[in-house]
Amino acid sequence: MFDHLNALPADPLLGLITAFHNDPNPQKVDLGVGVYRDESGHTPIMSAIAKAQTIHLEIEDSKTYISPAGVEGFVDGVKQLVFSKDSAAYKDGRITGLQTPGGCGALRIGSELLKRLKNDNLTVWVSDPTWANHIPLIKATGLEMGTYSYFDAETGAVNFDAMDAKLATLGPSDMVLLHGCCHNPTGADLSFENWQQIATRAAKQGFIPFVDLAYQGLGNGIEQDVKGIRYLSEHIDEMIVATSCSKNFGLYRERTGSLLVQTTSQKQANAVLTQIQEAARASYSMSPAYGGYLVDHILHNDGLRNDWETELNAMARRIKDLRSGLLEKVQQRNIDKDFSFLTTQNGMFSLLGISKEQVHLLRDDYAIYMADSSRINVAGLSTNSLEYVADALKAVIS
Ligand SMILES: Cc1ncc(COP(=O)(O)O)c(C=O)c1O
Repeated sequence: MFDHLNALPADPLLGLITAFHNDPNPQKVDLGVGVYRDESGHTPIMSAIAKAQTIHLEIEDSKTYISPAGVEGFVDGVKQLVFSKDSAAYKDGRITGLQTPGGCGALRIGSELLKRLKNDNLTVWVSDPTWANHIPLIKATGLEMGTYSYFDAETGAVNFDAMDAKLATLGPSDMVLLHGCCHNPTGADLSFENWQQIATRAAKQGFIPFVDLAYQGLGNGIEQDVKGIRYLSEHIDEMIVATSCSKNFGLYRERTGSLLVQTTSQKQANAVLTQIQEAARASYSMSPAYGGYLVDHILHNDGLRNDWETELNAMARRIKDLRSGLLEKVQQRNIDKDFSFLTTQNGMFSLLGISKEQVHLLRDDYAIYMADSSRINVAGLSTNSLEYVADALKAVIS
């Protein structure tokens, strides 16, 4: 039966992990994998999570299934974190949702919902470029996909005029996938004015925004990072948000995320919940629980929440400091390339905008690892490696 099955090529990012692991160079730097790292290169368990685990161990008395919807307190807490408890949609009970296995699970179940709603009459538009996994996650549902212009490689910023020109052509048979903040892979985020314009277009033309929010708090602050989403929520009736707790709670392996759907009435929200629960049932059946319980404890306990916010803010600060640190070092070296985008972009990622050959030179000659696209995980830098990386960039760019 499996005779005709060809092995697929290895995932390039996973290959990078192995190559980095096997590299004996003591100065090696991993800027490839998209996980937060501290100054020593470690991905820590956040202190609020460690405390929540202790609390949970004390009170958990069963490992029976919960439900396809997951931990209720978690879903409610995340709704407030994203939309705010004072938002009209939240107060009216127009936002429904369920816990999902990570942000990926949310993207997938959200796409399943769209497939049910529109059958084949829907195209999902993603930014060019977008996070590589968006494409297989959405395509697997059979929905059509296309791209909208997004990134201006010259300036390292969003080319909103080009994006808006595409949005102007869309209607009710279109869904637009937006990155809530900390765009992956470019780090170039929509401005608040851009979000306002998107809301105006969506309201007028009827396309549905589907926001992928995988980095809340790692850009410009927990509240600031969802300003665009909150504006959309106030100005349009329907939207979908996929959230992830992998990065901002450090719960990568607990697979903790949520799918949140804003509708026009509580009645519709109830109907949507039955649909997404059934989609979950047909996919993995029951929600994971553990990560949801931990986040629930943190969001509903003032002390833990304060710990979490403080640590998350420090993580975001570290990323910003590394961005300005690297910019300073490259500017000191008079490299023939403008890197000022490093400090205007947000979050963990930036596209360096160097060629694949230069990326390979960095890997082969300096043991600095990054994706072929030249996407770097800024959190993979450390204050100690900045000089080394800047020297290497100078050498390969000259
Ligand atoms: C843009 C984006 N969306 C969603 C995710 C989902 O992550 P997870 O499924 O690990 O929660 C990621 C993870 O890297 C991401 O970068």
